[in-house]
Amino acid sequence: MLRKVTLLAAALLLVGGPAMAAGKAHEPEPVAFSFEGPFGRFNQVQLQRGYKVYREVCAACHSMSLLAFRNLGDPSGPFFDPKYSAAKGKTSNDNPVVKALAADTQIPDLDSETGDAIQRPGIPADRFPSPFPNVIAAKASNGGIAPPDLSLMAKAREGGPEYIASLLQGYGPPEHGVTLAPGQHYNKYFPGGVIGMAPPLAPDQVSFDDGTRSTVKQQSEDVAAFLMWAAEPKMEERKKMGFSVLIFLVLFSGLLYASYRRVWKNESH
Ligand code: HEC
Repeated sequence: MLRKVTLLAAALLLVGGPAMAAGKAHEPEPVAFSFEGPFGRFNQVQLQRGYKVYREVCAACHSMSLLAFRNLGDPSGPFFDPKYSAAKGKTSNDNPVVKALAADTQIPDLDSETGDAIQRPGIPADRFPSPFPNVIAAKASNGGIAPPDLSLMAKAREGGPEYIASLLQGYGPPEHGVTLAPGQHYNKYFPGGVIGMAPPLAPDQVSFDDGTRSTVKQQSEDVAAFLMWAAEPKMEERKKMGFSVLIFLVLFSGLLYASYRRVWKNESH
């Protein structure tokens, strides 16, 4: 009996082994992000670095069409400044850093007199521009696969920001048995292992203004944190609200129990 079970297990392993090697991606590596846990908050300086990585590298291929420049200056955002908040009667549209970042980017528009297609510097109310005019152009420039929009990517993939950080560092020679067509790359964290995105990051590709060493690991984690903020900018508020609700529920249960005791005080079985 025992031998039969062992044989069966061995057979299953033999059958299942190669299938797993081809289809199952590696688990993302854990990263101690500042925004994890019930009291976690975004690290503003990290978000600033992450924005720089997105703008200088990823934005060449990936749109983030749900974001406007002014969002960068919203509370918990990378360039939030309390001087330009609702409490001071201002908005992030007035934030000079946000204005400068928007103006640094060219936005496709139409000339209001001639109707010609033009490029103009951005303003805070502009959405992030897409790198390609349409999906066909996006596919044509990327070996037939359009780079997906990154606005909600950190919430859309299992593993979220840790998956993104691992994916960006996960390139290497293909595992045994995997053959790559031109334009394909091997990445052990990508489901199936074969990805159409070339390794986008290299050491010192982005220089960080705060003096942080610009390793591939650092750039990957910073851009992953930025994408997490982009996908859930109200995370800090949500956590705070959750905690207040918990406190309320505890107090309310206590009150309910006290009144129950009081109402039934003189009743006997
Ligand atoms: C040269 C173009 C190019 C650049 C630059 C680029 N990507 Fe990509 N990216 C792609 C393409 C193409 C795909 C689709 C790959 C596929 O599905 O095989 C992709 C896919 C992705 C995915 C989705 C993976 C999945 O699970 O489906 C993520 C996340 C991603 N890129 C993040 C980034 C980040 C972050 C950067 C900047 C550090 C970046 N990319 C830079 C072209 C690019």
